[in-house]
Amino acid sequence: MSTIGESSRKVRTQATAAGVYEWFLGGRYSQEADANAAIASQRTFPLLSRTMRYNRQFLQRVVRHLVGEGVRQFLDLGSGYPSSGNVHEVAQELAPGARVVYVDYEPDTVEVSRSILAANPDATCVLGDVRSPGEVLANPEVRELLDFDEPIGLLMIAVLHFLPDTDAITRLVRRYSDALAPGSYLAISHGLVASGRVREIQSEATKVYNHTVSENGYTRSLAEIEQLFGGMAMVPPGVVLATDWHPDDPDHHHDDEDEASAILAGGVGRVERRLTKGSGAS
Ligand SMILES: C[S@@+](CC[C@H](N)C(=O)[O-])C[C@H]1O[C@@H](n2cnc3c(N)ncnc32)[C@H](O)[C@@H]1O
Repeated sequence: MSTIGESSRKVRTQATAAGVYEWFLGGRYSQEADANAAIASQRTFPLLSRTMRYNRQFLQRVVRHLVGEGVRQFLDLGSGYPSSGNVHEVAQELAPGARVVYVDYEPDTVEVSRSILAANPDATCVLGDVRSPGEVLANPEVRELLDFDEPIGLLMIAVLHFLPDTDAITRLVRRYSDALAPGSYLAISHGLVASGRVREIQSEATKVYNHTVSENGYTRSLAEIEQLFGGMAMVPPGVVLATDWHPDDPDHHHDDEDEASAILAGGVGRVERRLTKGSGAS
């Protein structure tokens, strides 16, 4: 366990999505309950840790792409621990002074995050539930660090698959994207329903995950994940396997045999015009 906040950090008996993901990434902030749950899921789907790394790599490529497009501020909903190459590490290396607000609803994650970021004037983490857009958008720390009249990179990476109702999430995503200035971007990665043999292993692993972790995961089809963008203009190539989105390797080719990549999709949309006037926090 970390030395950060160690004296006051509560030991959890329940695994969390943030802790399990942190364990898979090899980060230092997971706890024993997380490790046990991660190992149990991995027994049913041995490639799960590779999928988790693919997800983090997708996030990193998205952040680099958006910095390249001039974005200098990020709102990261369902952020996990700000380590192992999370948003502020990538953005601030490329663009010193880039501002990042992490939002998570899991108290241990937020407490550890705040202590990691204590000396960073351009990044913070606030407690917030992605299902409460009004509260998140009105949060004083969000408002202090981010300027909603300038483009923002809104990141919903590996978080929406913890919510059950596709239509409700589509409306939720809209509440956030409506508050953004033109030139902003929305990035989503999401668990994808696989086909054939992988689908069977995936549904076994999901059962184990849902049984051992505080969150329940819900996978969706490519069409359902596309729906979450609510028809906004998409950065090419649209919603695809996360590994196929702007790969770093110029020789990258789609690999049907890679079972770890078959269960995660992602894409990035662009906000063309602002729909909500003012703070967008109502
Ligand atoms: C798998 S981690 C993803 C972390 C990071 N976004 C990434 O992809 O690298 C999912 C995170 O979403 C958070 N989360 C799940 N449901 C949430 C909700 N309703 N509101 C805010 N955060 C949530 C979990 O606590 C966890 O930190």
